[in-house]
Amino acid sequence: MSIAGETSTGSKRPDLLFGPDASDVPRQMVRAHGCIVHGANGREYLDFIMGLGAVALGYGNAAVNLAVHAAVDRGTVGPLPPEDEAELAEELRVIIPRMEQVRFLKTGAEAVAAAVRIARAATKRDLVLGCGYHGWLDWCNSGPGIPQSTQSVFGTIPFNDPVGTRQAIRAAGDRLACVVIEPVIDAAPTAEWLAVVRVETQQLGALLVIDEVKTAFRIALGGATELWRVEPDLIVLGKAIANGYPLAVVGGRADVMQHVQQSWISSTLATEFVSLAAARATIAEIKRTNALTHLASVGARLFTGLTRLAEQYAMAGVHCAGISQMCYLRYDDEARSARVAAECARRGLLFKRTAYNFVSLAHDEQSVDSALKTLGEVLASC
Ligand SMILES: Cc1ncc(COP(=O)(O)O)c(C=O)c1O
Repeated sequence: MSIAGETSTGSKRPDLLFGPDASDVPRQMVRAHGCIVHGANGREYLDFIMGLGAVALGYGNAAVNLAVHAAVDRGTVGPLPPEDEAELAEELRVIIPRMEQVRFLKTGAEAVAAAVRIARAATKRDLVLGCGYHGWLDWCNSGPGIPQSTQSVFGTIPFNDPVGTRQAIRAAGDRLACVVIEPVIDAAPTAEWLAVVRVETQQLGALLVIDEVKTAFRIALGGATELWRVEPDLIVLGKAIANGYPLAVVGGRADVMQHVQQSWISSTLATEFVSLAAARATIAEIKRTNALTHLASVGARLFTGLTRLAEQYAMAGVHCAGISQMCYLRYDDEARSARVAAECARRGLLFKRTAYNFVSLAHDEQSVDSALKTLGEVLASC
């Protein structure tokens, strides 16, 4: 195997998906359409992992592909910024009015790191508090290869815990540049927690960054910011915005975004036609098909079914986590979670065990019921 660690996307590693000892599970794929994945082993799978949440319209959506083909025919990339950049920025401003100005990048991790850089430049402070997963870059991680000095200017706040959050923010005091939050971590945020995060950052002159990489274009077009009326200073988008094409966005208040110019945030392929066109087509298609209403309703069917299974197997340490559009079963016993995921795959279902599953426009009641039936049978036997 010439790829270190078997694959470049850690979350697609077979041991993470199916456990270290699983046999007869798909390790690579050759093709995907709708919610169906074709393994390199020649078998077909019903999928709920949906490119780790990068796809909300289904794999290979025809309207998005059409726009992408046209973008390829226009030359893909050139020496000047494409017109599409400003046009998409304007569309985003209409959807999320707080995104007065934006910058495009390629990955969620890059865009959240850019938000943190901008917040540090704007406040002239170093300390950052995070809540959730914000990508693999140094600023929010620890471990070998990450300098102690970088780790020393990052801390965390507890999700949905107003008292602990208030304490952590006040303890950071006037060293705090920003708080970066994921709005959904195993559950929806409470209004009280969101209010504490907003008020406490404001009182210290620190900024609030909302990381909507998983939630925007999924729980609502404008994500949690729209759904729960959060008023952040900066917003980060990614994943579903371009239905599988690589695009991420950092944006927010114009006076804050101005500070991007004091720093060097630039990437060769941040401005190419393909992903910008994919995003514009994705947004149009979500609106045309009313996709997010569909996600909410098939998602609710999945979530209700998972909740029932969790109730049935509560004594065996099985729990349901998430919200309708992004949910999973959590297990007290790691070995059992691996056995269930591997056995589901053997029966033709790809269902993530350690992180969210996502419904898409391509899922219907029948695909949800089929997944729940398989999960029920497998839980009974593993
Ligand atoms: C909330 C959140 N932020 C940031 C990221 C990082 O995005 P990417 O993997 O595109 O770098 C992820 C990825 O899962 C995420 O879920």
